[in-house]
Amino acid sequence: MSVPVTGRASAHAGKSIWHAAWLPPAAFRELGSRPVLVHGEGLLVDTVLDEVSRACARYGGRVWHGPPWQVDADLVLALREAGRVPNVAAESARLGATPAVNGAGDGALGDEGYLLARVDGVTVVLADAPAGLLYGMFHVVRLGAAAFDDELPARRHRPALDRRMLDHWDNVDVHPVSGQVERGYAGGSLFWRDGAARHDHARLRDYGRLLAACGVNAITVNNVNVHDTEARLLTDRLGDVAEIAQVLRPYGVRVHLSVSFAAPVVLGGLPTADPLDDRVRAWWAAATRRVYQRIPDFGGYLVKADSEGRPGPFAYGRDHADGANLLAEALAPHGGVVRWRAFVYDHRQDWRDRSTDRARAAHDHFAPLDGRFDDNVILQVKFGPIDFQPREPVSPVLAAMPATRLAVELQATQEYTGQQRHVCYLGPWWSEVLRFRPRGEAGGTIADVAAGRAGAGGGLVAVANVGDDPFWTAHPLAQANLYAFGRLAWDPLLVPGAILDEWIDLTWLPVATGDPETVRRTMHAIMDDSWRTYERYTAPLGVGFMVRPGHHYGPDVDGYEYTPWGTYHFADRDGVGVDRTRATGTGFTGQYPPPWSEVYESRERCPDELLLFFHHVPYRHVLHSGRTVIQHIYDTHFAGVEEVAAMRERWRLVAGAVDPAVHDRVAERLDEQFRSAVEWRDQINTYFFRKSGVPDAHGRRIH
Ligand code: GCU
Repeated sequence: MSVPVTGRASAHAGKSIWHAAWLPPAAFRELGSRPVLVHGEGLLVDTVLDEVSRACARYGGRVWHGPPWQVDADLVLALREAGRVPNVAAESARLGATPAVNGAGDGALGDEGYLLARVDGVTVVLADAPAGLLYGMFHVVRLGAAAFDDELPARRHRPALDRRMLDHWDNVDVHPVSGQVERGYAGGSLFWRDGAARHDHARLRDYGRLLAACGVNAITVNNVNVHDTEARLLTDRLGDVAEIAQVLRPYGVRVHLSVSFAAPVVLGGLPTADPLDDRVRAWWAAATRRVYQRIPDFGGYLVKADSEGRPGPFAYGRDHADGANLLAEALAPHGGVVRWRAFVYDHRQDWRDRSTDRARAAHDHFAPLDGRFDDNVILQVKFGPIDFQPREPVSPVLAAMPATRLAVELQATQEYTGQQRHVCYLGPWWSEVLRFRPRGEAGGTIADVAAGRAGAGGGLVAVANVGDDPFWTAHPLAQANLYAFGRLAWDPLLVPGAILDEWIDLTWLPVATGDPETVRRTMHAIMDDSWRTYERYTAPLGVGFMVRPGHHYGPDVDGYEYTPWGTYHFADRDGVGVDRTRATGTGFTGQYPPPWSEVYESRERCPDELLLFFHHVPYRHVLHSGRTVIQHIYDTHFAGVEEVAAMRERWRLVAGAVDPAVHDRVAERLDEQFRSAVEWRDQINTYFFRKSGVPDAHGRRIH
């Protein structure tokens, strides 16, 4: 049997048509077929009511919100502060008079938390704020029939991180080099087209729903590289931003803006953007006041300064604390934050100079500034020291600034992980990063750093991977990355395979899927290990890059080797890798606290998968795995291609069990992934065979 995934078309001709991703109507079947009571007031409560009403209209349930109450509800969604709930079970839970609920622990639910329990045959969601009710409702949707099982344990749910955001690198104008969406692999922008706002409210609203359903609560609507037109979103184009904020507000998604540090000059006509100049401070204060007049819940600014040619405080002899605090001061009266990016390095370095190390740059610039940032500054740090590679160590900045609010930046858009043409489920990689303990077993995790003390951390951010493609992410399976990002930001301890199960259940609903068990097994077989498969056929052992310059798709081993970008592998006839040790290299290992400063310094102790990030080693160096580096390169590249071939076969077997449009799209992408993986294998293996002269121990074909 084959039933199409329910799509949706905008009411306006010429606008987008899109698939439902993880919220097809049937996901609401269990909830929508019951009597439901919604208790409380507020914009987000209205959203809950609207969702429940639509589901009930479709599946035969009924919803009550106000008298005359139907007290025999199966599901009660109530704000505790709204007073007495006209349902005995829910009311006793609200009053804390139900043993099962009390056993779920104490503590405030906060602005976004909720309590979910099954009490005397009624499923109860209690929250102290409307957003909590919305998240609680989506939890009920996620659970499906299990939400109405009497065995459902009572539990309080609160997000581990208060800030769970996506940064869109979307341009208003089509940029001559980066296009409509910089590093965008899913068509155009949801917000902008050819220099203007799209006003595609129906789709934007659906986007807000998808985000709320996985827990994301903020987005940035324009690229960190702020060009001329985009700079004006802060001033005369502010109305467009306000419109987006209005459409997303009912789903609890707040809007942020990337701004240009040079705005006082390019927009305000001032002769300077010096952060210590009073005219500059006054300009930012006034501009920010106007933003909050239009958008009272505006989130704040995102700034890429003194990085890859963007303007910044260095031009005025000031440092990044001066720059960030300037904007913080303007935002503080309104409760906004400035997220200041730590991605600052010399992109015009001389490849002949072996002492300059791009990996060191963020720590060199920012660690000395710890303690100098205002309270509403968040320093946003890429998870690794280089640039979103499929394998990097965790950035040492994340262990070096205890007196600064830090946000961890991930990349959902797959710039370096197959550009949404390759299947690459990033949940396992992000989970590894979030669970990493930069001070060793006794210290906290990276997730703890992002959470901060008492929830005051900078949170988790990902560069967004959606566009106006009908499947949102072009590769339908890349939707799982967006979903996993939201869920890990809510709870970094979730297991990536379990997140995948949630996504599969919500997206590939049994009612719309022939043979759901086979579909589920196939999805896992293809996706679970797909990040490691990608790693196997691309740059080896953490050395990174080896991609084609500019667009970064496909292999080019020496593409960046003699360029100013600082991303080198240093392969020669004897060996490969970057010596970043204190003993003989760039000293980068010294930026880590123990134990990692020692582990990474030592060739013997360094984990295999990061060996070439930290060390230049001979091809015959023996890894912990027992294989030599050169044999590891050959073996993993042959294996990676075989794994892609197996993925393609598996996908063929579910033709007929999933929506044909989705099946075709994935099949077409898997063909390209296979072609590309073969190209990677052959270029990498041939390159290293020619450099080293060492043949493959198994005599396989190398060109
Ligand atoms: C990468 C990416 C750029 C982007 C930059 C950033 O270098 O290739 O397109 O602008 O990161 O994070 O600012």
